[in-house]
Amino acid sequence: VMPRHAYAGSLSLAGDEASRGRFTMLTVDVADTDQVLATLAGADLLWLESPTNPMLEVADLLTIISAAKAAGVTVVVDNTFNTPLVCRPLELGADVVLHSVTKYLAGHSDVVLGALVTSNTELRSRLLRHRTLHGAIAGPFEVWLALRGLRTLALRVERSQTNALYLAHKLRLDPALTRVRFPGLPDDPGHQRAADQLNGFGSIISIELADVAAAEALVAAVRVWLPATSLGGVESLIERRRRQSGEPVTVPEALVRLSVGIENPEDLWADLEQALAPLRPAERSTR
Ligand SMILES: Cc1ncc(COP(=O)(O)O)c(C=O)c1O
Repeated sequence: VMPRHAYAGSLSLAGDEASRGRFTMLTVDVADTDQVLATLAGADLLWLESPTNPMLEVADLLTIISAAKAAGVTVVVDNTFNTPLVCRPLELGADVVLHSVTKYLAGHSDVVLGALVTSNTELRSRLLRHRTLHGAIAGPFEVWLALRGLRTLALRVERSQTNALYLAHKLRLDPALTRVRFPGLPDDPGHQRAADQLNGFGSIISIELADVAAAEALVAAVRVWLPATSLGGVESLIERRRRQSGEPVTVPEALVRLSVGIENPEDLWADLEQALAPLRPAERSTR
């Protein structure tokens, strides 16, 4: 059982394996707890991501993980967006936590690395054996870069989350946008859950514009924000997600994902502001 929205690579990998007949894959809206619970009977593995990439849907991790464990389902949580400072899924009962270390943990967009974390020693041995035999062994330089990054994780996460909250409040008032998705906004559908279960609201904001042309124009007009596909680094990144072919078609075409970095928040807002100004309805109709 996979989230209908998640990191596109996870969905594609699972989809490829499912189409080769290795397993049956069901996708669910992780924010809809009843829907997730209804799929657990007979499931082997539940893969969770919360908030989801890039839709920022928030799952009731506590309820879902408890129910999955009671049903004997192995639970994997991709905790990349949260980092261990914001959510600790092993403590909620998850079997395995996955991090793209490439993102916040290393934090400087200069290393590609991943981590699986488990407190189950038998599972750990199996994962370690798989890793050793299949060759995905971390290089010493990558590990060194990741350890360098980890030293400032707390400071970086604190700053990027503060920046994201500041920007989300500005963005929600901007007439160029049709929607702002960010669990830190009080009217976001995931707000209460995130406030109850997470130790912060993260640093990813997804915004929606009127159409693809407006979304592309925004990405082309920013100067401080870098147009790039990764996230979780010190520099702020911006991307229209559907430009990637692997992205689920239920992700709106004009959705732009912002990975908020640790720069001066006024600089970040000023840059977005100048890029959004010509895209506001009043401006567009006079052109
Ligand atoms: C939630 C999530 N998990 C995993 C990954 C995979 O990351 P990596 O680049 O380290 O393969 C990403 C990348 O965007 C992601 O967003």
